[in-house]
Amino acid sequence: MVTGSSGFIGSNFVLDWLRCSDEPIVGLDALTYAGNPENLASIQGDSRYTLVRGDISDTNLVADLLLRYAPRAIVNFAAESHVDRSIHGPEDFIQTNIVGTFRLLECTRAYWSGIHGDQKASFRFTHVSTDEVYGSLGPTDLPFSELRRYEPNSPYSASKAASDHLVRAYHHTYGLPILTTNCSNNYGAFQFPEKLIPLMIHNALAGKPLPVYGDGKNVRDWIYVCDHCDAIRRVLEAGRVGETYNIGGCSEMKNIEVVHALCDALDAARPRADGSSYRTLISFVRDRPGHDRRYAIDNSKIERELGWTPKESFATGLAKTVRWYLDNPAWVSHVTSGAYRQWVSTNYGTRPEVVR
Ligand code: NAD
Ligand code: TYD
Repeated sequence: MVTGSSGFIGSNFVLDWLRCSDEPIVGLDALTYAGNPENLASIQGDSRYTLVRGDISDTNLVADLLLRYAPRAIVNFAAESHVDRSIHGPEDFIQTNIVGTFRLLECTRAYWSGIHGDQKASFRFTHVSTDEVYGSLGPTDLPFSELRRYEPNSPYSASKAASDHLVRAYHHTYGLPILTTNCSNNYGAFQFPEKLIPLMIHNALAGKPLPVYGDGKNVRDWIYVCDHCDAIRRVLEAGRVGETYNIGGCSEMKNIEVVHALCDALDAARPRADGSSYRTLISFVRDRPGHDRRYAIDNSKIERELGWTPKESFATGLAKTVRWYLDNPAWVSHVTSGAYRQWVSTNYGTRPEVVR
């Protein structure tokens, strides 16, 4: 069972899974603004995938689904996932990320208590989380290891940290066979254009300003989404029960470097009519409140224990991503109609340009 299966990473996970295996998946997704069944249009009618529209907080529904489908594992992607939205409206983050994870854990515990033998021994609950729970690094600090103290700074990361703690507690208290992954910033196909990379591609192609927060020197580690999905499959297959695995793309970059790389890729793939570079659209705007300065991941545990390393470099992953957005304008135009415009006005309408 895959929760959040119609979101960005969840849908990539389902597609990759069914490319490698015939084992069926039941998806559970509330289809919020971020959940888009169109992401899985290519497997429409495939009997290996069933989508159930519903909320992870809906105890009756989740309990029914667990009894009906008797999954051998749950992979929990369902969440509110955007930091800026959590700043404008934290309530949904508390509800889904904390209360929702709690209810999902309760249902899973009841289900797991009622199964026996091999089915019980091999069952796994995999919780997909973020590196943002660790807080912000200084320029010379060592990358986040799994032993790093939790210091979340945004309502989003605080709600994910709370969910990680609940997952941990269900293992220590009830013995639930859990695995937790904490991954860095993903990018790739089907990412909603509220996040940095798809937002910049979308704005650039529309000739709109590219809004870089603050001085553009905040650092993130970027991972191509299929590498993340591959790592989750590996953790599910061979991770030690009760353990946490950090997952990173080995690509630490300043935001402004990411935006420059995107502009250069677009200049090559879709030159502007007037011959100018997309870089001329870059606009530095007022910073995000509480903006974490740097994230970086130490991958050594997952490398050592599970033999996983990312396959894509930032250059190869970005080239695939830019190509996907250029080839899928209909997908972009569907998700950027209606409520998306309201979000752009809420987040960017009141954010003045800062001259640097
Ligand atoms: P997303 O916002 O694209 O997708 C979230 C999905 O969850 C959507 O399909 C949405 O409809 C669904 N959902 C939301 N609330 C729900 C609820 N109450 N019940 C059922 N479904 C619900 O997010 P994403 O980028 O795909 O992230 C997936 C997971 O990975 C999240 O838990 C996120 O914290 C984590 N993560 C994301 C990144 C990243 O860079 N995007 C990095 C590390 C970890
Ligand atoms: P984002 O994609 O929102 O991911 P996260 O906040 O979870 O890391 O943002 C990535 C980085 O890009 C982050 O440092 C904030 C910055 N950013 C901008 O500069 N401009 C934007 O319009 C957005 C959405 C993000």
